[in-house]
Amino acid sequence: MIISAPTDFRAAAQRRLPPFLFHYIDGGSGAETTLRRNEADLQALSVRQNVLRDVAGLSTATTLFGEDMALPVVLAPVGLTGMYARRGEVQAARAAAAHGVPFTLSTVSVCPLEEVQAQCPRPIWFQLYVLKDRGFMRAVLERAKAAGIKTLVFTVDMPLPGSRYRDAHSGMSGARAPLRRMVQAMTHPAWAWDVGLRGRPHDLGNISRYMGKPMALGDYIGWLGANFDPAIGWKDLEWIRAFWDGPMVVKGILEPDDARDAVRFGADGLVVSNHGGRQLDGTLSSVAALPRIADAVKGDLRILADSGVRTGLDVVRMIASGADAVMLGRAFIYALAARGEAGVGQLLDLIGRDMRVTMALTGARTLADLGAHTLA
Ligand code: FNR
Ligand code: LAC
Repeated sequence: MIISAPTDFRAAAQRRLPPFLFHYIDGGSGAETTLRRNEADLQALSVRQNVLRDVAGLSTATTLFGEDMALPVVLAPVGLTGMYARRGEVQAARAAAAHGVPFTLSTVSVCPLEEVQAQCPRPIWFQLYVLKDRGFMRAVLERAKAAGIKTLVFTVDMPLPGSRYRDAHSGMSGARAPLRRMVQAMTHPAWAWDVGLRGRPHDLGNISRYMGKPMALGDYIGWLGANFDPAIGWKDLEWIRAFWDGPMVVKGILEPDDARDAVRFGADGLVVSNHGGRQLDGTLSSVAALPRIADAVKGDLRILADSGVRTGLDVVRMIASGADAVMLGRAFIYALAARGEAGVGQLLDLIGRDMRVTMALTGARTLADLGAHTLA
């Protein structure tokens, strides 16, 4: 299969993955309105072509929380990444480091944070969910600190999992799910051999280490519903801010008043995100929500944005709309599922190249040259 565009990896991932995993990644919540809007609203933004602006020495580099980055791109936290490729979190983190960008490890990763950081030459970022077991939260933050992790991403848009209707159809959840998953694995032998057998252990690595026993994945969706905590407000989280002395990024903001609360909370950054259309269906797309949030809090903290970013042109559109950097979710997951570490590297190369073409033709030499004036 020929891969020449960043969007080519999706079909390659679909061929390789058992359907229960492909649809867990690919799907959204409800009628998937927000999922579609994220991509459609980005694509609907026209950029202005500006010529003869001398773009020699063009640079996509930036700095975020004291870290040098070759691209204004961070790999987003994605649960179960170790099911999409063998020890997938390690492979993605290594590809990100080799390309000069950060990788964020999800709370609900397969590989525990110690395994990933030990094999990655750059400090990874760690994403925390609010679980009912506060002892776990404190313990995992201590472990993250001990492993040398500096940047904490605190996800606030998942007090409970969204309504993911595809999961019951695909065998991710619902009646006879384990049997259906087994049949799907048998009919996807390349995955079954590489990941299903050689990628073990398959459990929630961060949580298993805390519990002292494997947290099996048999009923992953049920586990999320039972253990995520809806009884939570900003006040309950002050201890985390007090405990964590590194940069802290609040992920899952769509409204300016919540963005101002994040500033009051003491966040160093926020991610404008609707979780890739996986939580509240019917919301604004991230790129539509972004300009008002940037107006409200730009300068008070760093602004990241995600949801729907697939190409270097999309990265430029987000930055022109007010973001300092973007997170990539599905874009890197499809590349990882299709071709592992090399695939993620190839994707980052393609996105970097696409960004440079876009910047050169919009007359931007650095990221600081991008702004509302870039958009028509
Ligand atoms: C996610 N996302 C996510 N976010 C988070 O904070 N912790 C997590 O564990 C997960 N898990 C997860 C699993 C899968 C399969 C997907 C696709 C997404 C959300 C993710 O970080 C990011 O916000 C979205 O993926 C961005 O949208 P795009 O780029 O996928 O459109
Ligand atoms: C998801 C969770 C794990 O989106 O964040 O599936």
